[in-house]
Amino acid sequence: MNKNMFQHRIDELRSEIERHNRLYFVDNDPEIGDREYDELMRELVEIEKEHPDLVVPQSPTQRVGSEPLTEFSQISHQVPLLSLGNAFNDDDLHAWHERMAGLIESNKFELACELKFDGLAVALVYENGLFVQGATRGNGATGEDITSNLRTIRSIPLKLIGDYPSRFEVRGEVFFPKSEFRKFNEYREENGLDTYANPRNTAAGSLRQLDSSITAQRPLDIFIYGLGWVEGDFPIPKTHIRSLEYLKTLGFKINPFNQLAPNIKNAIEFHQKWVHNRNSIDYDCDGVVIKIDSFDYQQHVGTLGREPRWAIAYKFPSTQSITKLLDIRVNVGRTGTINPYAVLEPVNVGGVTVKQATLHNEDYIEGKDLRIGDSVVVERAGEVIPQVVSSQKTRRDGTEQKFLMPQLCPSCGSPTIREAEESALYCRNNSCPAQLVRLVEHFVSKSAMDIDGVGGKIGTLLIESGLITDVGDLYTLRKEQLTKLERMGEKSASNIIGAVSDSKDRPLSRLLVALGISHIGTEVAENISNRFGNMEKIMQASEESLTDIPDIGPKIAKSLTTYFQSATNLLLIDKLIRAGLNMEEKNDTGLSQAQEQVLRDMRFCVTGRLQQFSRSEIQNLIKELGGSASGSVSSRTNYLIAGEEAGSKLSDAARIGIPVLSEDDFLAMIQQRPFYDDDA
Ligand code: IVH
Repeated sequence: MNKNMFQHRIDELRSEIERHNRLYFVDNDPEIGDREYDELMRELVEIEKEHPDLVVPQSPTQRVGSEPLTEFSQISHQVPLLSLGNAFNDDDLHAWHERMAGLIESNKFELACELKFDGLAVALVYENGLFVQGATRGNGATGEDITSNLRTIRSIPLKLIGDYPSRFEVRGEVFFPKSEFRKFNEYREENGLDTYANPRNTAAGSLRQLDSSITAQRPLDIFIYGLGWVEGDFPIPKTHIRSLEYLKTLGFKINPFNQLAPNIKNAIEFHQKWVHNRNSIDYDCDGVVIKIDSFDYQQHVGTLGREPRWAIAYKFPSTQSITKLLDIRVNVGRTGTINPYAVLEPVNVGGVTVKQATLHNEDYIEGKDLRIGDSVVVERAGEVIPQVVSSQKTRRDGTEQKFLMPQLCPSCGSPTIREAEESALYCRNNSCPAQLVRLVEHFVSKSAMDIDGVGGKIGTLLIESGLITDVGDLYTLRKEQLTKLERMGEKSASNIIGAVSDSKDRPLSRLLVALGISHIGTEVAENISNRFGNMEKIMQASEESLTDIPDIGPKIAKSLTTYFQSATNLLLIDKLIRAGLNMEEKNDTGLSQAQEQVLRDMRFCVTGRLQQFSRSEIQNLIKELGGSASGSVSSRTNYLIAGEEAGSKLSDAARIGIPVLSEDDFLAMIQQRPFYDDDA
């Protein structure tokens, strides 16, 4: 192949990959699976490796981030990015509308209604259809050049499709999806990293990384909400909504809920609807934006100072309220952390009554100088747990009390300890009853040993009645001991004994998670189990050999080795070994290599009640066999497995055309595949 032919194939691959990016990240309607996508990408990477001179910044291969910067350079915005005036109630909005009606002769004008996304404003410049520069809003006149970071966001097109002006700018809001934010913080918590307060801060932190390869690992997304400027005399639609529809045809991601309102009453209804529905979408919004739809009228009414007159933000009711901090109390966590929380005078925050809020740790209380008796600002952002944001110092009357963390554990009375570089205070008594209750809850949970029927209540009963002194004792419980407990029937007792016994075969990594060692979450545990292969080797692992494993830093390594230095913990492991728990990482699942991956890259959704598997059992099996299981049916699902009383997912599957399997079909599938392979 000569150079031209390579260039030709490269162009073909790039537009095909960008098309699939668009289908997946913008339109939510993929055509191909991960494997086919990876295949295209691999071919492009290979050709580009052979021909580095053909690599351009707009190649999809460049979405993984580039060389770290030492600082961001400043960019002067060609047209300043304005802010918005606010309306807080219907009267404010009517007043704005009347002012505009007074300025527009015909007195009649339509309104564009949009959500007001709570993320970060960015401006993206396209030259000849290529994304060439992206900047933050900054102070409105100058922002920072974050082009490399923005390039990693898959829903930002690097190359446009269709017809477009030779140079123009679009504006939009970058955000961190709420569901991803929850996962992200969970991961950080499990791995001993600081957590973020809300999706907005996380988006900001991710966009302001000097190393764009870090940004590339964050699932950022964007909605484009307007044109900045356009050069030349390219014919652009004459109204806002139509201009957004046009931008959509170029490949930009536009919010699907934008709506044209013929009059102010409809705009108010739009606001009202989203006050109720705001929690049903996967991104934070703090209001709606109402804009005069006609560009001519927009220009006519113009701008006043830093705010356009033609648009206004109609905010949602606040998710912050002020109340009294009645007391600060602590509870004891599973790893012995002493966790302070606020007891509040009950207050309505965005429609929900809040009585308690987390205070995280001693530093949080000191940093905000929170005192018992203070008036405090409480916030409930999305579905995240309530936070105390600040205290109102000017409202103090001198009766407020500083809070001191307890020197003794409130549950067992052992001295509490704060170690260097840790923000948490700990009770280090391994047999502290409060810790044991939390540990039992954790040990039996779905992501750990998955023991059905033993929750916090039963755990507390078992501990209080002296039947268990550690989680190892669960395995020697007898039915007649259980039936003596309050309100425990024969059937529940047998179920518990059965579930406990079933859990003995859980993978080693799950047992490692179940032990409740600080900073050891699922992913870390899987890496450790895979590396060492059995419990004995893990127990003997040095800190150095642990930090050799990807994603394991000194904090995690230290936590693990410290755990295995404690005599109590060693006795517990011994008890678990004697009870017959699996202590080996079984790569060898008893299946042949071909069988092991029979479900490779297949996506399943499971619904209804199954006969032979619990929900998590079948999900684990699918995973072990190389597939994945998700909670909902989408066009990316390959099969729906439906048990008894399957509900709406069946009709979803029928609508999208996803084949439905019974449990037996599924079993046949995993048992038969290897024979086909062998025959081939
Ligand atoms: S229009 C001149 N539309 O709100 C018009 N802004 O206070 C200004 N924002 O920083 C932009 N969603 O990033 C517009 N649908 C939307 C928006 C939106 C969020 C942000 C924007 C700006 C702030 C204005």
